[in-house]
Amino acid sequence: MSGELSPIDKAKFVAAKRAAQYVEDGMRVGLGTGSTAAWLVRCLGEMVREDGLKIRGVPTSTRTAMLAREVGIQVISLDEAKWLDLTIDGADEFDGDLNLIKGSGGALLQEKIVATASDQMVVIADIGKEVEHLGGFPLPIEVIPFGWQTTQALVEETLISMDVLGRSTSLRMNGDTPFVTDEGNHILDLHLNRIGNARQLALVLNQMPGVVENGLFIDICDAVVIGYGDGRVDVRDINEGTVATERLDFVESDNLFADLSE
Ligand code: A5P
Repeated sequence: MSGELSPIDKAKFVAAKRAAQYVEDGMRVGLGTGSTAAWLVRCLGEMVREDGLKIRGVPTSTRTAMLAREVGIQVISLDEAKWLDLTIDGADEFDGDLNLIKGSGGALLQEKIVATASDQMVVIADIGKEVEHLGGFPLPIEVIPFGWQTTQALVEETLISMDVLGRSTSLRMNGDTPFVTDEGNHILDLHLNRIGNARQLALVLNQMPGVVENGLFIDICDAVVIGYGDGRVDVRDINEGTVATERLDFVESDNLFADLSE
């Protein structure tokens, strides 16, 4: 990638750059998936190569694993790490309680396992991801391929009694064939428009046979770093109850901006 970044990419970049400051020598770090998380991986790679930062990273997808190795981060499995100091990941939506919708990249299962196995989860996002109520973005759920149409029918029937505004669902496709996750499953996207009770919905969805996991992250995220196109970042910490606004010096480094694939 060369030339000027778009405002949205600048926002993602500054959020990632600021969140990289959470990472300390010796940490085991969960590495998220998506375009914002890709900036984070690149920033951490630069810190490893140029500042001698020593970390071990647990990626949440095969594509993040590839990028992490490419930029020089030592990659280990979650079983090797057992527990993580910190996970930094993107989100599709976050609300005022820092509850999230995740999974547009199809990596929600590994993302949730990794985030839950971390002392702290920090979300990085541009300001466009903030919502009053979750649900404007389709909610992904990961389903077992066996009998997925039956699972879809069961999900749609269950949604009738849920506090949501829309109830249609669609199988995520990759061209002409169903999308397949890293775990060999499919994704159903639930078009709910507005979720009234995200906690209840997350529990109900996960009780259905055939549903492996849903993209609602409730009480998992500790802080969100929100980036703006002008280089500003807001850091909101739900545990401390603090909000801080900072401005990052924006220097386009050739290494960081080269060949970003996501
Ligand atoms: C991947 O499965 C997702 O959960 C991503 O973390 C989320 O969709 C954010 O992606 P972007 O940073 O590309 O918007």
